[in-house]
Amino acid sequence: MEFPVQTANPAKIETACLVVPVFKDGDLLPAATKLDDASERLIGQLIERGDFDARLGNVQLIPFAPGLNADRLMLVGLGARETCQEGAFRKAVDAAFGALASLPADDAAVAFNDVPVPDRACDWKARMVAEAAHRAIYRFNDFKSEPAPVPRLERVTLLVSEGGDSSAAREGSRIGDGIGQGINATRTLGNLPGNVCTPSYLAERAEQMAADSEGALTTEILDEAALEELGAHSLLSVGRGSVEPSRLIVMKYQGADDPDEAPHMLVGKGITFDSGGISLKPGDGMDEMKFDMCGAASVFGAVTSVLAIRPRVNLVAIVASAENMPDGRATKPGDIIKTLKGLSVEVLNTDAEGRLVLCDALTYAERFEPASVVDIATLTGAAIIALGHHATGLMSNDDDLALDLLDAGETAWDRAWHMPLWDEYQEQLDSNFADLANIGGRPAGTITAGCFLSRFTDKYPWAHLDIAGTAWHSGKQKGATGRPVSLLTQYLLDRASDSQVQVGED
Ligand code: BES
Ligand code: MN
Ligand code: ZN
Repeated sequence: MEFPVQTANPAKIETACLVVPVFKDGDLLPAATKLDDASERLIGQLIERGDFDARLGNVQLIPFAPGLNADRLMLVGLGARETCQEGAFRKAVDAAFGALASLPADDAAVAFNDVPVPDRACDWKARMVAEAAHRAIYRFNDFKSEPAPVPRLERVTLLVSEGGDSSAAREGSRIGDGIGQGINATRTLGNLPGNVCTPSYLAERAEQMAADSEGALTTEILDEAALEELGAHSLLSVGRGSVEPSRLIVMKYQGADDPDEAPHMLVGKGITFDSGGISLKPGDGMDEMKFDMCGAASVFGAVTSVLAIRPRVNLVAIVASAENMPDGRATKPGDIIKTLKGLSVEVLNTDAEGRLVLCDALTYAERFEPASVVDIATLTGAAIIALGHHATGLMSNDDDLALDLLDAGETAWDRAWHMPLWDEYQEQLDSNFADLANIGGRPAGTITAGCFLSRFTDKYPWAHLDIAGTAWHSGKQKGATGRPVSLLTQYLLDRASDSQVQVGED
């Protein structure tokens, strides 16, 4: 996908489709005004006669526009000017690209940089446009005998009214381009079925990414023998009932000027299928537990984005991967295991397995002496009860880190919500037989899962993102969302030593 920036009069632009956002009330935006002037007041008249309703997300295609060099004109409703904030802007952009993706058009020119969004500058808007373009053209057709038509769109020209803004638009679209690639890589990994996307498959993907990176990424894979030798018995306990061997995958990217600068770390839950194990889940909707590696997928996606954008930051990414199945050799409720950290855990429910793979990965993270560690996991169904499908749950042992992540989520419009990890919750994990239990009962299930992880993260600033509600859609739209790749990438860009790559507020 290409995102050239143009400051020329939009009436002169040669393109298959010119996309023009319009407010429900008030004057036309600068690009629309120029087009209106050049086209015998086509846009103004459509609105005046009530032929175009500019309610938010409404899209109308005009197949022929006199006086313009574009083959088509697409009007996109922005709703009321007063309500045009980030969410509305994204909705309009998504509607436009949704429609563009179904046109027989290779290119489009869009005038979204004109749209006033409070506190958001040109770079932010360009970034949102580029990201939306990638999301819109995504298709997952790998397993269909007759694949749905693939969108042809491959070039989106960003129209910028003021010449001074074009370098900001260029940089914003470069970042949105990188993030869009990461989001779609995450969606594909998430959507792959459990019989294809196994822990070894993920390990191979990491090796492939390193091979394709011209030295920018290095990988290390720990197989079951290495994990046994290391003492990662908790991670290994989860895959014990599966024929698929577990893996710990480490990826390293050195972008900082100082190679010894402490790295930031991402740690992803990579349960490639979660049957619940001996504490077997009910059958309804169990297929969706192939998405239980979406934390890992988001780590791969963030690495993809980082390789595209190349921020000056050191990153170590870890994926803890296993398949959770019932079997004669599977871990049973009541079993006591020894974690890599040395703490013993009574496994009261084998379906609370994510924390068991993550705790060993989080202990392994200590050796990198990280500046920060963020784990990402589809950890608890309770996160869906607490926050629904809009916010990712955030918990942390460091309030500054929590704020940095909340900020990154706001900028990326991939938002999280802070939940408490108070000491009072910790006693729910008390066990009569081991150092701690792997479940804390029904109250505050998301928080007690976070409390469990916090026992393994006392050596560094750490945050936990529970993406159970945000990582995939169910129902007709079933599929991985690619969240929270844009939050994670933004967080890393904000840590980079050169402010050049930062896309933020005015
Ligand atoms: N992967 C699930 C969490 C999950 C469930 C995410 C449904 C999205 C939708 C996790 O491994 C799990 O099973 N958690 C249990 C924990 C419980 C046993 C304490 C849960 O949420 O029920
Ligand atoms: Mn589970
Ligand atoms: Zn799980």
